[in-house]
Amino acid sequence: MWDPAVYGRFGAERSRPFLDLVARIGAEHPRAVTDLGCGPGDLTRTLAGRWPGARVTGIDSSPEMIEKAGPGFRLGDIADWHPEPDVDVVVTNAALQWVPGHPEMLARWARELPSGAWIAMQVPGNFDSPAHRAARELSPVELRADPVLDAAGYAEVLAGTTVDAWETTYLHLLPADPGADHPVLRWIEGTALRPVRAALDDERWAAFRAALAPRIAEAYPERHGLVAFPFRRIFVVATT
Ligand SMILES: C[S@@+](CC[C@H](N)C(=O)[O-])C[C@H]1O[C@@H](n2cnc3c(N)ncnc32)[C@H](O)[C@@H]1O
Repeated sequence: MWDPAVYGRFGAERSRPFLDLVARIGAEHPRAVTDLGCGPGDLTRTLAGRWPGARVTGIDSSPEMIEKAGPGFRLGDIADWHPEPDVDVVVTNAALQWVPGHPEMLARWARELPSGAWIAMQVPGNFDSPAHRAARELSPVELRADPVLDAAGYAEVLAGTTVDAWETTYLHLLPADPGADHPVLRWIEGTALRPVRAALDDERWAAFRAALAPRIAEAYPERHGLVAFPFRRIFVVATT
């Protein structure tokens, strides 16, 4: 289950990669734009602002997210999605890491989309970070170590399209609020730790969190009230 309120923490840091991604889309008058794994919908709405003439649709498999997003958004699984004939832009931001087999899906979309369409995707590439490594070590639930490709891997999958692929490591400087949990723990709780939370009862979840917290505090120390959290992300914009 996705909790829009927990995911909404660090909204400014999370929206930056989306904005950097869509800035590289060159479509001028797309007929339809689809945002796959749209989450609570606020970023999808910026696409409607950029292309007011387009039919903009957001699709997400989480009922909680779709309820938060409101009218015009629909429940659906990315794995089942096929582009309608007028889709000229597909955006998928921070979602494909949850979809096994997504590289084959990207190749299929590239074949199914009309000529001149744009696919823009971003996935986190920080599964080897100290926070994720500690979570994998301590979690009683198996967490996938490597659910994404690197930029070159996606470029290969999308061979035959024109590919613009890159990687960026953002340095998020997160406030360490006195009395609150460590900000990196609060961050990953909203995303990577969701499968752990879903599998454990309250007591085991509290024990897992209590074991993870000192590992995270050690890896990401506070300096002058801030915690530096480097976050690598992988971007691909392809034109069919
Ligand atoms: C980290 S959030 C990203 C939300 C939004 N794209 C953003 O940039 O803020 C990941 C989203 O992907 C959705 N998701 C995960 N697996 C999915 C799937 N197989 N089909 C559709 N949505 C999925 C989740 O429900 C969640 O809303």
